[in-house]
Amino acid sequence: MDSRLEAFVAECDCLARTHAGAGEYVARAAPRMLDLAAMGLDLLSPEQRRDDPRSYARNALHLGSQRGVSLFALVWRPGQWTPIHDHGTWGVVGVLEGVLEERSFVPRSYEVDDADAIELLPGGISLLSPGSVSTFVPNPDHIHMTGVPEDRETAVSLHVYGRLMNSYHFYDRDAGTRRLVAVEHFES
Ligand SMILES: [Fe+2]
Repeated sequence: MDSRLEAFVAECDCLARTHAGAGEYVARAAPRMLDLAAMGLDLLSPEQRRDDPRSYARNALHLGSQRGVSLFALVWRPGQWTPIHDHGTWGVVGVLEGVLEERSFVPRSYEVDDADAIELLPGGISLLSPGSVSTFVPNPDHIHMTGVPEDRETAVSLHVYGRLMNSYHFYDRDAGTRRLVAVEHFES
C-alpha cells in the first residue's frame, strides 16, 4: 500500500483508540482524506483499482481487526450502484476520479425499532466530484445508496470505515425490511 495511505490508516487507528466518538473521528479524518483525494489515482496501483463488470468493485487496502478501521478503493462503472444500506459505524469517503452520486433515505419514524416495518422516504442527494469528501456517523444510521448513473464516467473512491466493513444492513424498501448481509471484496 502507498505510504500516504498507510499513514492515513495509522492516523485513523489512533483516532479510533481515543474513544472520542464518531463525530470527532470524521471531523478529524475528513481533512486528511481531502489531502488524499487531491492526489487522485496516483495513490493506487492497477491491482488496487480493479473493476468488475458484474458489480461495483470493492478493493480491500487495509482490513485490520473486526473493531479496527478498514480502507477500501471502490470502482464504479456507469450504471453500478449499491443497494440501500447503512454501515453501523462512521466513515469518510474521498473521490479520486469521476463523479460519485449518493442518494440518502430517511425513515418515516426513528421511534420504530422493528426491522420488518421500516418506511423509507427519499432524502437529498450529493454529487461528489474528484477531490470531494463526504462523511457519515451512526446512531441514527446514515441510510443511503451510492453509485454512478449510466450516463456518467467510471468513478473511483476511497472509503475508510470505523470497523471491518465485511457486512452491512441491506434495506428492502418495498418489503420495509432491514437485514445484515455479507459484502464481498477483492484482496489487494
Ligand atoms: Fe455506504
